[in-house]
Amino acid sequence: MIWKIAVSSRFYFVRVLVLTGAGVSAESGIPTFRGKDGYWRNLDPTKLATPEAFAREPKLVWDWYRERRERIRNAQPNAAHEAIARLAQRADGFLLVTQNVDDLHARAGIPAQRMVRIHGDIFATRCSRCDFSYGGRGGSPEPPGACVVQSTNRRLRSIAATSERDLNVPTCPKCQALMRPGVVWFGEQLARNELERVENFLHGGACDVVIVAGTTATFGYIIDWALHGSRDGAELIEVNPEETPLSRFATRLVREPAAIALPRIVDELIASG
Ligand code: OAD
Repeated sequence: MIWKIAVSSRFYFVRVLVLTGAGVSAESGIPTFRGKDGYWRNLDPTKLATPEAFAREPKLVWDWYRERRERIRNAQPNAAHEAIARLAQRADGFLLVTQNVDDLHARAGIPAQRMVRIHGDIFATRCSRCDFSYGGRGGSPEPPGACVVQSTNRRLRSIAATSERDLNVPTCPKCQALMRPGVVWFGEQLARNELERVENFLHGGACDVVIVAGTTATFGYIIDWALHGSRDGAELIEVNPEETPLSRFATRLVREPAAIALPRIVDELIASG
């Protein structure tokens, strides 16, 4: 493994890529998608997180997202999020690509420029038709009765709930279409600018270490990025209690919960650097 010495004379990893999924937030009490607690009111989350479900039953989909927002607001980053944040501080080149729409990586201290939230942000709300959107962690219950929001043309506006329907399914103040959570649903395209950030990192030089933690790696792009990042001899570490399609490519398999394994792995990497 190649290391370089920074001016401060502390050792820094050259380049590290970390890919995370729902398993990393499991020990913060956020159910995984495909785990035993993933079902909500007996409904399969992989069927709820779709444009079709939203078109058919927007209130049901919003109810699910409101409950998830509430749970995430009350959750705390765990030792896995903290270990990854520590690695981000020590690495010279670092990118975290998370599929998680919660904000626990950010709250553990990963700066936005070192993280790509490839499936979006659960606390963002955007119009299902036009470019209007607003972010922030919102109040409870959601959406708030009235909130000041910023439109994409930077004019502040106020959204006020005017009816029972508005309280349950917010509408766009610009075009009156339904507002939706700012996440990527099944069958939707990934945001081009976020994709470019991942590709720029991968093309910006070889990685020394790639860590894939807490994901079933069901999406081809997650496998592609892990393999691309590790193709020049990087160590490919998978942290997952279960086997995944990526397991056979890993140079190191750690079959433990992320909150147990990652602090130790990060300590080892820092010590060996
Ligand atoms: P999944 O729910 O598919 O998988 C969670 C993974 O975490 C599984 O492989 C578990 O074995 C593992 N796991 C569970 N507990 C763990 C722990 N304590 N430590 C480490 N690993 C643990 O979640 P994702 O792979 O993130 O996409 O799912 C990927 C995407 O599919 C999600 O972002 C979402 C989903 O449907 C969209 O909504 C587009």
